[in-house]
Amino acid sequence: SRVVTLAVIPGDGIGPEVVAEAEKVLDAVTAGSEVAFEKTRFSLGATRYLETGDTLTDDDLAAIASHDAILLGAVGGVPGDPRLKDANIERGLLLKLRFSLDHYVNLRPSKLYTGASGPLAEPGEIDFVVVREGTEGPYVGNGGSIRTGTPHEVANETSVNTAFGVERVVRYAFAQAQRRRRSLTLVHKTNVLVHAGGMWKRIVDAVATEYPEVAVDYIHVDAATIFLVTNPGRFDVIVTDNLFGDILTDLAGAVTGGIGLAASGNINPDGAFPSMFEPVHGSAPDIAGQQKADPTAAILSVALMLDHLGLTDEAARVTRAVEADIANRGTAARTTAEVGDAIVAAVQA
Ligand code: NAD
Ligand code: IPM
Ligand code: MN
Repeated sequence: SRVVTLAVIPGDGIGPEVVAEAEKVLDAVTAGSEVAFEKTRFSLGATRYLETGDTLTDDDLAAIASHDAILLGAVGGVPGDPRLKDANIERGLLLKLRFSLDHYVNLRPSKLYTGASGPLAEPGEIDFVVVREGTEGPYVGNGGSIRTGTPHEVANETSVNTAFGVERVVRYAFAQAQRRRRSLTLVHKTNVLVHAGGMWKRIVDAVATEYPEVAVDYIHVDAATIFLVTNPGRFDVIVTDNLFGDILTDLAGAVTGGIGLAASGNINPDGAFPSMFEPVHGSAPDIAGQQKADPTAAILSVALMLDHLGLTDEAARVTRAVEADIANRGTAARTTAEVGDAIVAAVQA
């Protein structure tokens, strides 16, 4: 039998609520099987910061990094909370994990499941995956501000794009496209961001020569937001930078039935570090603590994790259970736990 060590970071707001359901589903799908998950819980996020002043210590990071995989709910306090003025939980915790563990692929699949109610009148078939670069772009923190707070302030946030960083994520995206419907779309803004965009385009064109069967397309990010709404069915694999990918995947979640269904994996494909699985959404302070959050995104993130760990049968069972639940859920309001329980029941069926 196989033991998988799992670091669990429930986090803030709805994070603990949705992670509780994800864990139930994980327990159900591994019950009596050859694989056992040995979980360690890490109390991190705004709550921990308010208690101790710590965001992510070196000891926390080392302990988390020693696991086989990470499951995260969401982090971030209530916006505007004065006690969090000097904290930056998002940078100091979430991005620190993604950067330190070299999660250079942020994999965000979007599929319109039967029964899911999106905002589009005639959505057609939607099934694409955004391969979002995870360690570079404007997220690296390469910037600064001078004359801060004065009318003459200058604030810069430099987007860092390296040939090494872009090529590795582009290669991953092509490999995905080759296994899927063999279509890859680069999304950028090459008409304005000529330096970074130019390099992305050249690298995509160069790697494309190794994948003659993959049809390659390019669209500007502003137009991509149009097509994600008017014709999302045209997409198979989208590859893009860290910031564009962040924005596009909230939109992708919305058109495929809501952010409560959108799962993601922060992946280190080389396996040097554990990969981290989390819903695309945040801590949703507006509905936290009320059992209103949809745990499906967290549960589908467990499916991505199982797949990544090579537990493909278990992953498929979770995905099928979610599919069955979405197909039957209708419009009646259910609590977070009721959704989780229904998916557990479908896993056991
Ligand atoms: P959000 O995703 O938390 O919420 C946006 C909207 O979506 C809200 O109306 C919320 O109620 C709704 N929503 C989100 N998840 C839902 C779910 N599972 N079921 C039903 N509705 C859901 O984004 P935000 O409000 O911009 O951010 C809130 C906090 O979360 C901020 O501190 C932000 O920095 C943080 N954040 C964290 C992560 C993460 O941990 N990965 C991701 C995004 C935002
Ligand atoms: C996400 C979130 C994060 C991001 C924030 C909270 C740092 O929005 O996971 O999509 O921008 O990547
Ligand atoms: Mn986001």
